[in-house]
Amino acid sequence: MEKMKIGVIGAGSISDVHLQSYANHPDVEVYAISDLNEERAKAKAAQYGASKTFADYRELLALPEVDAVSVCTWNNTHAAIAAAALDAGKHVLVEKPLSKTVEEALLVEEAAKRSGKVLQVGFVRRYASNTNLLKRFIDDGELGDIYYAKASCLRRLGNPGGWFSDVERSGGGPLIDLGVHIIDICWYLMGRPKVVSVSGNAYNRLGNRSNIQGLSFYKAADYDAAKNTVEDLANALIRFENGASLMVDVSFTLHAKKDELSVKLYGDRGGAELEPELQLVLERHDTILNATPQVDDVTFNFKDAFQREINHFIAAARGEAETLSPVQDGVELMKMLTAIYESARTGREIRL
Ligand SMILES: NC(=O)c1ccc[n+]([C@@H]2O[C@H](COP(=O)([O-])OP(=O)(O)OC[C@H]3O[C@@H](n4cnc5c(N)ncnc54)[C@H](O)[C@@H]3O)[C@@H](O)[C@H]2O)c1
Repeated sequence: MEKMKIGVIGAGSISDVHLQSYANHPDVEVYAISDLNEERAKAKAAQYGASKTFADYRELLALPEVDAVSVCTWNNTHAAIAAAALDAGKHVLVEKPLSKTVEEALLVEEAAKRSGKVLQVGFVRRYASNTNLLKRFIDDGELGDIYYAKASCLRRLGNPGGWFSDVERSGGGPLIDLGVHIIDICWYLMGRPKVVSVSGNAYNRLGNRSNIQGLSFYKAADYDAAKNTVEDLANALIRFENGASLMVDVSFTLHAKKDELSVKLYGDRGGAELEPELQLVLERHDTILNATPQVDDVTFNFKDAFQREINHFIAAARGEAETLSPVQDGVELMKMLTAIYESARTGREIRL
């Protein structure tokens, strides 16, 4: 079988896990890389063996031999690039969030329908092996009806700077960057119930704390602490049509004792924690059991999850599997996120 030729658009920090995962795939050739900063694209091309580089992504999309692309650019460019790639006949893996606005997300959905190509949203946690294992228990009814979920992703110091903290290019701070992951994973495991309302708060009280020394954190390729127009803490309550609810809080900076990542689900037969460590809470013979699966990855394994996401994308592009994170789910997440920002802005509950 001829190897599938891959293009990667956006050659910054996260592109490395895409490029490495494609490079590890036996049926794939890392073929072309585009970045506004062409030197960056060239350096990655040398590292991963790509033969072509472009400053303008449209030149990459014009190559008929490119079968599929990853979009790893700033949030405000995801939708336009993803739609152009679909219209050029490429399968697309677009990093989260799908877009900056709901309107843009709907344009990508239309382009995906029009093209018949695969559009996979980079909800990498859906592909992680700890999620996969928990999903098997949930699908088997071990938790019963999940009526409550609670998730936190709190960084005490972790504003990635650069475009991430420029609301024009990112669409927001920790809510659109980190909240998108934990809201999505709860919603996915709850069975994607229809959202009826959201209520949220967003604060910009601490700024990016760029004065703090001695602690390292994830940074944009063009790290710059000078501009910071995004929230540093957000929280939300999301209500679903089936009566279930989800509570989340996320931060880039917070006076917290330590970083915190937790994802908890509560059903009428059992409960589960996906993070910080996969654990099931079951009831058998009038006894509560905290059950820890004996597997390698009880926590989220970053590299392995990306590899599984890329492998699944390639399988979907070949027609061998359905993507686990289709465009419609990217649209629904954009509806939730933008409604939370609207609620925070107006001080009201938003009905969807
Ligand atoms: N799934 C995850 O866990 C995860 C983790 C980190 C980042 N991300 C997402 O990946 C995306 C990129 O994040 P990052 O951390 O790599 O940022 P980054 O700033 O390190 O890299 C972004 C790159 O995109 C380039 N770029 C911007 N617009 C472009 C355009 N029109 N054409 C070509 N190149 C362009 C920039 O020059 C830069 O090199 C974001 O959407 C982010 O939300 C996802």
